[in-house]
Amino acid sequence: MDNEKKFYITTPLYYPSDKLHIGHAYTTVAADALARYKRAMGYDVYFLTGSDEHGQKIERKAKAKGQTPKQYVDDIVDTFKALWKLLNISNDGFVRTTDDSHVKCVQSIFKRLYDQGDIYKASYKGHYCTPCEAFWLERQLTDGNCCPDCGGKTEVVEEESYFLKVSKYAPALIEHIKTHPEFIQPVSRANEMLNNFLLPGLEDLCISRTTFKWGIPVTFDDKHVVYVWIDALSGYISHLGYAGDDTLKFDRYWPADVHLVGKEIVRFHTIIWPIILMALGLPLPKQVFGHGWLVLNGGKMSKSKGNVVDPTKLVERYGVDAIRYFLLREVPFGSDGVFTNEALIARINTDLANDFGNLLSRTTTMIEKYCGGKIPTHDEAAPEDEVLIALASRLPKAVEDRMNELKLPEALQEIWKLIGACNKYIDVTCPWILAKNEDSKERLNTVLYNLAECLRISCTLLKAFLPETAAKALERLGENAEEAHIDGLCFYGLPVGSTVQSGAPLFPRIDMKKELEELEKLNPAGSQGEEEPRAEKPEEKKPEENKPIIDYEDFAKLDLRLAKVIACEPVKKSSHLLNLTLQVGEETRTVLSGIKDYYTPDELIGKTVVIVANLKPRKMCGIESNGMILCASDEGDAHLTALTTMTEFESGAKVR
Ligand code: MSP
Repeated sequence: MDNEKKFYITTPLYYPSDKLHIGHAYTTVAADALARYKRAMGYDVYFLTGSDEHGQKIERKAKAKGQTPKQYVDDIVDTFKALWKLLNISNDGFVRTTDDSHVKCVQSIFKRLYDQGDIYKASYKGHYCTPCEAFWLERQLTDGNCCPDCGGKTEVVEEESYFLKVSKYAPALIEHIKTHPEFIQPVSRANEMLNNFLLPGLEDLCISRTTFKWGIPVTFDDKHVVYVWIDALSGYISHLGYAGDDTLKFDRYWPADVHLVGKEIVRFHTIIWPIILMALGLPLPKQVFGHGWLVLNGGKMSKSKGNVVDPTKLVERYGVDAIRYFLLREVPFGSDGVFTNEALIARINTDLANDFGNLLSRTTTMIEKYCGGKIPTHDEAAPEDEVLIALASRLPKAVEDRMNELKLPEALQEIWKLIGACNKYIDVTCPWILAKNEDSKERLNTVLYNLAECLRISCTLLKAFLPETAAKALERLGENAEEAHIDGLCFYGLPVGSTVQSGAPLFPRIDMKKELEELEKLNPAGSQGEEEPRAEKPEEKKPEENKPIIDYEDFAKLDLRLAKVIACEPVKKSSHLLNLTLQVGEETRTVLSGIKDYYTPDELIGKTVVIVANLKPRKMCGIESNGMILCASDEGDAHLTALTTMTEFESGAKVR
């Protein structure tokens, strides 16, 4: 097969120190959607996940349970595999760092780097965090002597260790990062690696330990075991047979196309790992993508903090695809996102039950009722059909573009644009009215054909994201799900005459209030807790609170300014808009604002307001609005107040 058409994707190798939580599921589900999508695009995909099983923490936990470390990890790794099965993860391989082949591979890498002078022995003194098994530099500590990752106290530890000469390879790595902008994604993470770690200068890396035994022994110095990163990272190549007897997979799939990792381990994957590979004379992975965290009540979910959400319980309650959908859709890929039970149910109710489920059941029910359960013939397209057909025809390419940039939520958004357009198309074409008149039979057929065809296209693309749902929906449309291919997917591919079947809703609507109470008992970690009481919201409305955590750079894009209202009048054609003339420094501009129910023009004239000054101009009722006035409002917008300043202040001043 053509080498361009191979795709090697990995998840991190998870620590079996405890069961996995929804945050781990997030990484693996995303990798799975990418792997499935690439397979559907004709790539020879190898998708690897696994477990990173050594270390002091595991040794201690096993001891506390009266087990050997191997017995302990065996049990937990079984739960990993069960979870991946439950979540429909299509991994091709699973590497365990306790696999014999892995152990031999790591030992041979260590020996080779030692022999060639890239590893040396010395004494090390540093600030060590036991739960994270990480040494930190003085300048990285928080609150005096606390770990920047978990916040726990660090201890000063001194031991004899082997070191990897990372400094030797730093210039080559800096050059690689600068000349390969695609290597570290999103780009902000590349800047972080360069500015925070590489450019200030790297310290050689400690890569062995003598303080515990549960690790891969250094073959030529049995007091030492290989320490975490060189062991874990090598899993990406040991599994493919590197340095073993059968290197066929290694020759075929290395270098990796994407290492998908959480942002906290980007550093290891983009500094340590490339340096190990350079020292071994191997090509570097094409891309390391550092995604954000799924956070809970403002903090990262973590087993050591005990604030985790169990994905198994959620899958048992809502089905695998509801959870896959939430994970893939809710969090902008690359940024942090908040997990709440409310957001999960809102996604299920709004996107899956209302938008997708309703469309499928309306379409299949109408085909059963009006066309004898067979896909009808289609006539020439009317103008409203053409808009829909154009959207559906562009969808495969739109999804491909998003997937190539690993923008998974945006890819789903594209599919939902078509689903939304179909629901509107039903409202506009009113098939139930067409059905009343024999003369509009052909039009009715065409409308229903178009809807079924849009669904077929959407579901074929959805197979990568929601495999079970897409298969069920395709079968209801009379399609063989296995044979629905993205390749060559185009409008009018749905055969006339196939048998259509309606059925029970794929995603029954959930009563938000009752469900939240139930979930509070089942999964308290996902509820908001007492500090943030929330009023119930209408289910259709997506909870606004669940906006992603953004980087400062995103916030800095906003040009917020003080503006003085110098004139104001109602917009004649509108029931809610006011037309405000604002003084912003030297400039006068027109801004429309939907606050007519809350203020009379006289109440606003002379007041200072806060505006978003760089919002794209937008025409409403024939008037161009150049900015937006910031207001605060309560639930349901019952009360609203425009933001102003505590003292008189010059217009045009920046708000930061
Ligand atoms: N063993 C190392 C990885 C070695 S890779 C050669 C490790 N393991 S881990 O189990 O602690 O975490 C693995 C990954 O789980 C994280 O990098 C991240 O991808 C994912 N996540 C863990 N918690 C998460 C969230 N709360 N949110 C999103 N992803 C999370 O690090």
